Amino acid sequence: MIKFTIITLFREAIEPYLKASMMEKATRKGLAEFDFVDLRDFGLGPHKSVDDTPYGGGDGMLLRCEPVFKAIESVKAKDASAKVILPTPVGEVWNQEMAREFAERETSSHYIILCPHYEGYDERILSIVDYKISLGKYVLTGGELPALAIIDSVVRLIPGVLGGEKSAEIESFSDGDNLEYPQYTRPEDFRGMKVPEILLSGNHGEIAKWREEHSGKA
Ligand code: ADE
Repeated sequence: MIKFTIITLFREAIEPYLKASMMEKATRKGLAEFDFVDLRDFGLGPHKSVDDTPYGGGDGMLLRCEPVFKAIESVKAKDASAKVILPTPVGEVWNQEMAREFAERETSSHYIILCPHYEGYDERILSIVDYKISLGKYVLTGGELPALAIIDSVVRLIPGVLGGEKSAEIESFSDGDNLEYPQYTRPEDFRGMKVPEILLSGNHGEIAKWREEHSGKA
């Protein structure tokens, strides 16, 4: 069982994805669990404020330490072993190998994903973060999309999520630098675009060779 607790101001931006398709299946089978913490609940003052202007000046608002620390501590009070992930464009760029490591790390693991929003966060928040993860060299509005990408790429690798005996086979194609071969389904001829002859041959040895040759090696 892998558990993700997502600390966010925008639960509604994340939840529908986790209630559909493979993520829903993983939850139903008891292989994954998703929980939410509303950062606003830990906000300061009558307006439950979670952000403030930067010292030294500059545009925008930064996530404050107090609500973030309190939110994370509230989760860790129930499970001290939970590890904190911070999606940030300056983190380590996420890849398939990292997803596999997270999926294989322990049979029972709990990750807290802190979704920053606004223009950034107080640097002292990094003192309670275990993993800084970037989706790539571009800037998103918040941590919600990265949280979903991280969760999806990890959960699909957990045995039983993609489907029983086939998952090991599928995994062999998910090394990241060994992308899957081109695939086709019916019809054989679509508007003059034909399925490669070899795939219709029934010759499994030749098909395996063709697939190996055509798997997009990086
Ligand atoms: N937050 C904003 N942009 C991001 C990115 N590219 N990766 C992870 N977190 C982010």
